[in-house]
Amino acid sequence: MSNRMVKLARRPKGMVKRDDFTIEDGPVPEPGAGEMRVKIEYISLDPAMRGWMNDTKSYSPPVGLGEVMRSFSAGTVEKSNNPAFKSGDAVQGMFGVRRYAISKGERVLKVDTRQAPLQRWIGGLGMPGWTAYFGLLEVGQPKAGETVVVSAASGAVGSVVGQIAKIKGCRAVGIAGGPDKCRYVTQELGFDACIDYKAGNLAAQLKEACPKGIDVNFENVGGEILDTVLLQMNVFGRIALCGLISAYNATEAPAGPKNIRAVLTQRLKMQGLIVTDWASRVPEAITQLGQWHKEGKLKIREDVREGGIDAFPDVLNLLYTSGNFGKLVLKV
Ligand SMILES: NC(=O)c1ccc[n+]([C@@H]2O[C@H](COP(=O)([O-])OP(=O)(O)OC[C@H]3O[C@@H](n4cnc5c(N)ncnc54)[C@H](OP(=O)(O)O)[C@@H]3O)[C@@H](O)[C@H]2O)c1
Repeated sequence: MSNRMVKLARRPKGMVKRDDFTIEDGPVPEPGAGEMRVKIEYISLDPAMRGWMNDTKSYSPPVGLGEVMRSFSAGTVEKSNNPAFKSGDAVQGMFGVRRYAISKGERVLKVDTRQAPLQRWIGGLGMPGWTAYFGLLEVGQPKAGETVVVSAASGAVGSVVGQIAKIKGCRAVGIAGGPDKCRYVTQELGFDACIDYKAGNLAAQLKEACPKGIDVNFENVGGEILDTVLLQMNVFGRIALCGLISAYNATEAPAGPKNIRAVLTQRLKMQGLIVTDWASRVPEAITQLGQWHKEGKLKIREDVREGGIDAFPDVLNLLYTSGNFGKLVLKV
């Protein structure tokens, strides 16, 4: 078995194309002193990956041309010269889009596959779950009885946000694309309502689902959705700006938000968040999310795709075309 890997060949314009990457085979690497070799089993597809390919100012440096594409992944330690890890340990970390990774163990977490399957540790119990947990509780600051609206509600982050909102005694309203996703959000996840933004008339649907207005908006999408939500925010509402996926492949700067005046008139707080802001508190999120999951209060769904390393560019694009249903993961 070779070490097949995806490298960034050029900076994509719009949606990624296969030619934006080279897919290469290398030898299976040997760990040096203090290192371990991880056999990667699942690669996490995250919307942010598209931003990591751009050479613009951001929260992390761009992936360099010719470098292995950055990713969260989960796998098993195959060989270890690091006393903190042993062969057979299930782990997750930023191992990149490849079959084997060498790691010194920095920011690598051991995970318990008896508690949840390996792929869930890069999903609802991994980075997307931590984002929902800290983003909603720390930035959104929801209080019992308030109305929380979350976009991309059936997805990895959004699904967890709405369920935490329910646990905290809030009215949880999702926004998602299509009747199947909306049915899942209300019937399986227990949100109070879910709006199908593809059905049109978003403002009227939102008004009906949020008769007392919106206190917390957990924003994953931006564009028209954020603009519509802004006009229904209550005084002193909070907007946790987690993602703007509707613009990640845009080739021109977006025109909005058009209704930013609502931030002034309703005295809203809008704060961007990056999950690594709470890096030191990840164990807390893992414990709490794991507990809710065990108690059946937190349901988690993965969308696992076959095709291995070579399928990476096509599978990634599913995120931007509403093609995934649950946390998108590529099986290696
Ligand atoms: N700030 C952070 O630290 C952080 C960390 C993780 C994730 N995020 C952000 O959180 C958001 C969700 O990420 P995720 O991993 O949970 O992905 P996800 O929701 O599992 O998948 C992406 C979903 O976004 C929706 N979408 C895509 N393009 C859209 C558009 N033009 N208009 C409306 N909806 C669109 C689609 O759902 P529908 O079928 O419902 O349209 C798609 O299934 C992203 O914006 C991501 O960048 C931020």
